[in-house]
Amino acid sequence: MCGIIGIASAKPVSGNIIEALKKLEYRGYDSAGLSTIDDGKISEKKCSGRVNNLEKILFENPSKGNLGIGHVRWATHGIPNEINAHPHSSEVVSVVHNGIIENSNSIKEELIKKNYLFKSQTDTEVITLLLTSYLKNLDILDSVHKTLERLEGSFALGIIFKNFKDIVIGARRGSPLAVGYGHEENYIGSDSYALKSMTNKISYLEDGEICILTKDKVEFYNSEKNKINKEILTLSNDENKTTKGDFKDFMSKEINEQSITSKTCLKEYIDHLRKDINFYNFPINPNEINRITLIGCGTAYHSCLIAKYLFEELSSITVETDIASEFRYRKIKFNKNNLYVFVSQSGETADTFAALDLCNKNKANTCAIVNVVESSIARAADFVFPIHAGPEIGVASTKAFIGQMLVLYLLSLKISKIRNEITDQNYIKNIKDLNNLPSLIKEVLAKRNEIQNIAKDFINSKGTMFLGRGLSYPIALEGALKLKELSYIHAEGYPAGEMKHGPLALIEDGLPVVVLAPKDKYFEKTISNMQEVIARGGKVILFTDDDSEIISENIRYKFNIPKCNDYIKPFLLTLPLQMLAYYVASFKNCDIDKPRNLAKSVTVE
Ligand code: AGP
Repeated sequence: MCGIIGIASAKPVSGNIIEALKKLEYRGYDSAGLSTIDDGKISEKKCSGRVNNLEKILFENPSKGNLGIGHVRWATHGIPNEINAHPHSSEVVSVVHNGIIENSNSIKEELIKKNYLFKSQTDTEVITLLLTSYLKNLDILDSVHKTLERLEGSFALGIIFKNFKDIVIGARRGSPLAVGYGHEENYIGSDSYALKSMTNKISYLEDGEICILTKDKVEFYNSEKNKINKEILTLSNDENKTTKGDFKDFMSKEINEQSITSKTCLKEYIDHLRKDINFYNFPINPNEINRITLIGCGTAYHSCLIAKYLFEELSSITVETDIASEFRYRKIKFNKNNLYVFVSQSGETADTFAALDLCNKNKANTCAIVNVVESSIARAADFVFPIHAGPEIGVASTKAFIGQMLVLYLLSLKISKIRNEITDQNYIKNIKDLNNLPSLIKEVLAKRNEIQNIAKDFINSKGTMFLGRGLSYPIALEGALKLKELSYIHAEGYPAGEMKHGPLALIEDGLPVVVLAPKDKYFEKTISNMQEVIARGGKVILFTDDDSEIISENIRYKFNIPKCNDYIKPFLLTLPLQMLAYYVASFKNCDIDKPRNLAKSVTVE
């Protein structure tokens, strides 16, 4: 998943391209590049590593062109280096690409037979050379359409041409592409976040559409080559939300924002006067739903798992969860009384989008729980529940997870209420308890020094385990994922009851093991599983709201969360695990906001 940008302007564009690429770096950061039309020729500049390296190259050798494209890369085909970095150019055309061309090998063979020379190992270069071959006999629009017809797979493209000096062409199939409108300049970008510092007027390409930018206008065509009009959206100005402020990195800022973001979300959904949850004309009658399928990837999938437990606790609806990359290829038995819920922070994750697309094609009931309301998944679902967490820049998802869990909990409460499967008293009590969440979050975050201390135990650890039961099991999975993706320590989340069926063999003297044991119906069982670990030399770090001393024997650390409603405990148990991963990674000098090999929004399969 890469980031692309394109600008047609009355003035030199390289400065704005660099600034936009810095904004897009959360999508990929192993190499970067740009190309402009300088003195009638395509001028390409590329580097491995971060955009800063490209900025240095431009400082020594500036690009002057008023028209250009840029790219930040997350390598799929070909190692991250300068040659494989984008743009990929021929003498007459230059291309930046986000996505995967699945039939690149066969097209490459065909072009090599026609004596086209390839410089890189990428799939993208076939687009450049195929277009070059068509431009020999066809006009620009027919060449682009012909090229796109030949491509299998996903793409968002930015293209410039030596012989058409005032045009940038953008095209989309599968990967997101936004179009921005400015004064004497227009833009394309992988998302609106990259364009926000230049404009707040945005349109989005749908699959099969292309756009032609000049500095004065933008034209759109659909896959039937017909000219079309596009809705222009005005974006909210939350520029200040995308700066680190006084924080060292975006992740620590986003962890600390969770009391505020949860308050914002509650304000959006809870009607305090009527002691009710407002779901704004949710189009599906909950009494007609007999099965809910919750779908997501990574952290979003973990929030789906939490929701499964909540829906089962609060209603009689059958609930299943699915990892999107598996769901999209399974033989699903669609049923009109099923509700398919898609959870995604970015709203652009390719597997989740494809799973939603499959449901749409089968006319299934869908809704999306997203953070980016103008995203592809939000636009494709029947109904959208925003989580109101504000832009999340750190690759490791934190405040979005809390937001996803919160909206899913509110959805489970509301649906149970409408189905009369929860008493008024219980409904109102759970809503009342939820109003304490922001202050409870603040209380736990204030204990960060304790976590910093605990984190030292993990720095040299070669592995660790996170154990929990019931609602704490998905939190154990999330804690393990955070530690893995930030500190590169191998960590496994496991249902505590499952240990004796094999993983207990991994326990040895001094191995740090995180145990989540809130005082709920799983407490006793979890404590006995914890004892099994201690008996084999495991160094237990216990997270609980129980304050009896007896269980503290033989454990390394005990971190207490405040006592609260059982359904709120997963939220409070998540926070110290986010901080644990953060401090372990900091102690190991890992790149907190841009962990190796990852990217914020996975727009390729
Ligand atoms: C979480 O920290 C990771 N960045 C990753 O697992 C993420 O949750 C996953 O890629 C899903 O992203 P989405 O919520 O934007 O769809």
